[in-house]
Amino acid sequence: MNTLRQLIQAREALLPPETDAYRILDGAPWPGVFLDALSDRLLVSVRDTNVPRELRNQLAELGRPVYLKQLARDTKQAPQRLSGPIAKPRFIIRENGVRYLMDMEAGYSQGIFLDQRDNRAAVRARCHSGMTLLNTFAYTGAFSVCAALAGAQTTTLDLSSPCLNWCKENMVLNSIDPDDHYFCKGDTMHWLDRFARQGRRFDAIVLDPPTFSRDEKGHVWRVEKDYAKLVEQALHCLTPHGWLLCTTNCRKLSHLAFFEQVAAGAPRCQITSAPMPFDFDGEDYLKILWVER
Ligand SMILES: C[S@@+](CC[C@H](N)C(=O)[O-])C[C@H]1O[C@@H](n2cnc3c(N)ncnc32)[C@H](O)[C@@H]1O
Repeated sequence: MNTLRQLIQAREALLPPETDAYRILDGAPWPGVFLDALSDRLLVSVRDTNVPRELRNQLAELGRPVYLKQLARDTKQAPQRLSGPIAKPRFIIRENGVRYLMDMEAGYSQGIFLDQRDNRAAVRARCHSGMTLLNTFAYTGAFSVCAALAGAQTTTLDLSSPCLNWCKENMVLNSIDPDDHYFCKGDTMHWLDRFARQGRRFDAIVLDPPTFSRDEKGHVWRVEKDYAKLVEQALHCLTPHGWLLCTTNCRKLSHLAFFEQVAAGAPRCQITSAPMPFDFDGEDYLKILWVER
């Protein structure tokens, strides 16, 4: 096997410029073991296994702060320090020159989903000034930042106020004034209905929901059965030549089943699939569909 140092070098040679956050190990050679670079920090994530001794040793040799996360569906805990120098929990990563705030103490997720890197770049490339983008289930608003950098006016929507504030921080980090953009706290499905009733339309909408969600009234929403309805609702809020980015990381749903759901919600639309970033060379779990009217 290549050493970790060699693997890191090989990955970095293929990364887009000004990018320091990427996947190093994606379930091979150790099944259930994943390793991400987040600026100078390294994050090992394990599913139903321990960190192999060989990996532990190689990580220690790199002399970088290393954190460990247990990928458990029930006990979603923040990563713990594993080895290396003590580092500040809040720090910044760069992706295609865009800066994002990370926080190792924020909980189970650290501020960005690395598997969406190519989609963020594609959103930026597709956006331009004068257009509007609605980013639903926005988390820390990374898609909004990319759209705003391209000149679009963004509306960022999430159930969580801390996430919306994090998005504003990400905007400020990239010299975007959050006051030039909109932020909506609440349930995506309710807001889409409200926008449709108000006649509010967007040129682009990002749909990247969690697999399972409960709205403010306790209603349960599941990707496997409710995605088609979500697409249909989003289309009611889209301008005639607008586009949707539809993604899901739901492992229970096959690529075909996801396509069928999106196609059911968006009949007569052109639908194109896209692959995961090259460094996610393990399980092909992320489904990505672009919908154009
Ligand atoms: C999978 S993350 C989305 C990741 C994000 N699209 C990105 O690329 O960074 C899920 C987010 O959806 C939010 N969320 C969950 N249920 C929601 C709902 N019903 N309406 C709006 N936001 C919701 C959560 O607060 C969380 O921030």
